[in-house]
Amino acid sequence: MMTVIKPFLKAFKTTMAYSMYIVEHFPSQTSVVMQGAGSVKKLPALIKAQGIRKPLVVTDSVLMQLNLLKGLFESFDAINMPYAVYDGVQPNPSIDNIEDAYALYRKEGCDAFVGFGGGSSMDCAKVAAARAAKPELTTDRLGGYFKVMLPIPKKLPRIFAVPTTAGTGAEATSAAVVTDPKKNIKYTVNDFLLHPHFIVLDAELTLGLPPSITAITAMDALSHSVEGYIGGAHSRLSDMYSESAVRFIFENIDKVYHDGSDLQARGNLMLASYYAGFVLNRALTGYVHPFAHKIGGKYHLPHGRVIGAVMPHVFEYYGETAYKRLGKLADVLNITDPSMSDSEKGKAFIEAIRGYNRTYGIAETIPEIKEADFPEIAKSIHWECVPYPVPKIMDTKDIYTLLKRIKG
Ligand SMILES: [Fe+2]
Repeated sequence: MMTVIKPFLKAFKTTMAYSMYIVEHFPSQTSVVMQGAGSVKKLPALIKAQGIRKPLVVTDSVLMQLNLLKGLFESFDAINMPYAVYDGVQPNPSIDNIEDAYALYRKEGCDAFVGFGGGSSMDCAKVAAARAAKPELTTDRLGGYFKVMLPIPKKLPRIFAVPTTAGTGAEATSAAVVTDPKKNIKYTVNDFLLHPHFIVLDAELTLGLPPSITAITAMDALSHSVEGYIGGAHSRLSDMYSESAVRFIFENIDKVYHDGSDLQARGNLMLASYYAGFVLNRALTGYVHPFAHKIGGKYHLPHGRVIGAVMPHVFEYYGETAYKRLGKLADVLNITDPSMSDSEKGKAFIEAIRGYNRTYGIAETIPEIKEADFPEIAKSIHWECVPYPVPKIMDTKDIYTLLKRIKG
């Protein structure tokens, strides 16, 4: 069966890779980025300068309890700018979260969104903005591709993204993940128009993150930069971002892990996460993410923790098809010497990922995986991976083999 499908899949993936190359020059994929410790306090003035009357801040209750939004709120008050707050975002925002945020946006007469938090808050803000642009489409009908853009592009309310972790890169992507609790599924909303218009990278907001969370979120960023780098849609521009992200992550993770108050290193990780998000948006992902989405969703495990366990196995499966590109990243990390072959360099990079896992407490296996679930997991991976320009296509047997290794 797979022998018949594989050539078609390959042709489709090549077309996808080419399309993503074109997307690189798509004008709406650029944002204004404000960077630096304390920069979130300048956001209200920036919002006002856009002619916005009243933004809706979309966040979660934990960040509200931690008082992380104090600086932002005080800065709104200092310039007498009204704002409203929706703080009900749950991890992987539900359809209800988005509908509630959108209802509040309308009730309060708002005209822009500020997604403040992890990927969930930013995703919630993006999809609520899509709802505002296309009020006739409820959240459950926005899943898939280009529902806002087609047939006629609609103008979205301005979206301001303020990440408070350094990992998801959601501030730099045109996609959002939504949970449908009734059907017990997650789906994505993909549209060029969802790309945040303004991004604030304020490392002070990440100061309270514990070492383990910092390490697993940075592992997620690492995977975005590497999966795009070795896939068929990479370009010179995305390569530049991938290489910088990989270097920044490996150069700074140890400093932040041992001293969470190192603002300079926190800032570098935040920049790395943004760069990696840029790569994810332009060059897409490979098999690591479909594995992680299904395994993480099914067994309720943190995304970055699953990514850390899955990534070395998937890259080893790619083998010779990816060693040359992985080897270039090993060069970036300065862990090679000129006598080494491409495959030796590629393996050295995979070993560096394993070293990261071991050093920062990310388990290298996932014993929670059940063999009885293999068919369901494999099916999900096949479907999710259809558009991704992966170096090598897996069949079901390959996926089972990898699942056994990942299970440990
Ligand atoms: Fe990810």
